[in-house]
Amino acid sequence: MATDQIPQFPAGFLWGVSTSAHQIEGAADEREPSVWDAFTAEPGRVKDGSTAAVACDHYHRHREDVALLAGLGVDAYRFSVSWPRVNSPGGLDFYDRLVDELCAAGIRPVPTLFHWDLPVALDWLERDTASRFAEYVSVVAERLGDRVHKWITLNEPAEHTLLGHALGVHAPGRRLLFDALPVAHHQLLAHGLAVRALRAAGVGDIGIANSHGPTWPASAEPADVAAADFYDLLLGRLFADPLLLGRYPDGIGELMPSADLESDLKVISEPLDWYGVNYYAPTRVGAPQGADGEFGGIPIPAELPFSVREIEGVPVTDFGWPVVPEGLTELLTGFRERYGDRLPPVVITENGCSYEGLDDQDRIAYLDGHIRALHRALEAGVDVRGYFVWSLLDNFEWAEGYARRFGMVHVDFATLRRTPKSSYAWFRDVLRAQR
Ligand code: BGC
Repeated sequence: MATDQIPQFPAGFLWGVSTSAHQIEGAADEREPSVWDAFTAEPGRVKDGSTAAVACDHYHRHREDVALLAGLGVDAYRFSVSWPRVNSPGGLDFYDRLVDELCAAGIRPVPTLFHWDLPVALDWLERDTASRFAEYVSVVAERLGDRVHKWITLNEPAEHTLLGHALGVHAPGRRLLFDALPVAHHQLLAHGLAVRALRAAGVGDIGIANSHGPTWPASAEPADVAAADFYDLLLGRLFADPLLLGRYPDGIGELMPSADLESDLKVISEPLDWYGVNYYAPTRVGAPQGADGEFGGIPIPAELPFSVREIEGVPVTDFGWPVVPEGLTELLTGFRERYGDRLPPVVITENGCSYEGLDDQDRIAYLDGHIRALHRALEAGVDVRGYFVWSLLDNFEWAEGYARRFGMVHVDFATLRRTPKSSYAWFRDVLRAQR
C-alpha cells in the first residue's frame, strides 16, 4: 500500500489523533470518582473484570506520550479533560502542564470537555447538570484559554444516552429504554450552555464530537425501511437536528423534559464553528425480530422497534464491526444534502478500528481506505477541515475492558511499555507526504 498514492488534502487540513481521559489517564486515586469508577466496581459490568484505575498511566507518563505524538508528526491532539479531576486538588494543573508540553512540541491541544466520565455525584437525568457543566467549562476555559484555540464540548451524547442510560451497558448502568430521552436533552442543553460559557470566556473555534454513520435498511420492505429510519432518527438526527436546525425531529420534541422547549433549542443551536463527526461504520437495520439480539457487543432488546442486522460481504474488525470506508463518503455527502448551509465545516474527530498485533496491516488498510473516502467527500464539495485517528494508544475500551486494541501504539498493560505498531510508522509517513 503506497502512502504516496493518498491524494493531497488542502493546505491547513488538520491531522491528529484522539484519546479520552478515563480510557488512558489512570491515577484514579488522585481525583474524585466518576460514574465509570462506580460502574466498573460492580461485578460483571466490564467483560474482563478490569478497571481504568491505572489504564495507560498517561497521567504519570504524559511526557512520553507527547513525545510519541511529536514522533508521529500530528498537527493536533484531541484529549479529554476529566471533570472529576478538575474538581480535585491539582487536577487542573495536570492539563495546564499537558497543554504547555503540547504547545512546546508544536502540537495544537484540542480538549473535549466531557467524554462520559461524569462526577459520581451528578446525574444527566437532572436538568441542573447542564448548568453545572457550564460552570466547570468556564473554569477550564479561564485556565487553558490562553493556549487552547480549538474546543470540543461533548463526545457522543448519543452513545452516552443509549449505552449508559437506555441499555445499561455503560456507566451509569441504567436500563431506561425510551425514558432515557431526558439524558439526551440535558446533554444537548449542556452543550449549548458550554458554547456560551466558552465564548463568554473569550475563547472560540468550538465544535462537538457526534457519532454518525449511514443507516441502511435491511431490505426495501416498508417495515425495514421504517425501522431503519427510526434508528437513524434516534441515534443521528435526534442529536444533529437540534444543533444544526434548532429543532428536534418530528415526534421527539414532545417527549423532552422542558417547560420551555423553544428557549432550550435556542441555547442548543448556538452557532458552531465546526461540526465533529466520529465515524466507524454504517449500520444495517431492519424491523424487530421478536427476540433479543446483539451487535458488536451491544445487546439489542426485543422490545426496541428495530433490529440490527449483519452487513454481509465486507471485512470486519476484531470487534466485529464492518469495514466500509465508502460509508464515510456517503455519510458526509448525505449530511451536506440534509443540512445545506446550516452545516459548518466538518472535522472527523474519530475514526479507527480494533485489531490485535504489532504488525497491524489491517489497521493500515482501514485507515488508508477511510482517508481516501474522506478525500472523495472533499472532492464532492463537503467542507472537511480535519481528520483524527482513534486512537494513539491501546486503552480501556469501556465495557470491553482491555480486550479491544484501537491504538497505533501498543500498550503492555502489565509493564505499561509503549511500542509503536506498523500503523504508527505508516501514519507518520502519510503525514510527511502531506506536508
Ligand atoms: C468513543 C471512544 C471509543 C471508540 C471505540 C467512540 O464511540 O468516543 O471512547 O473508545 O468509540 O469504541
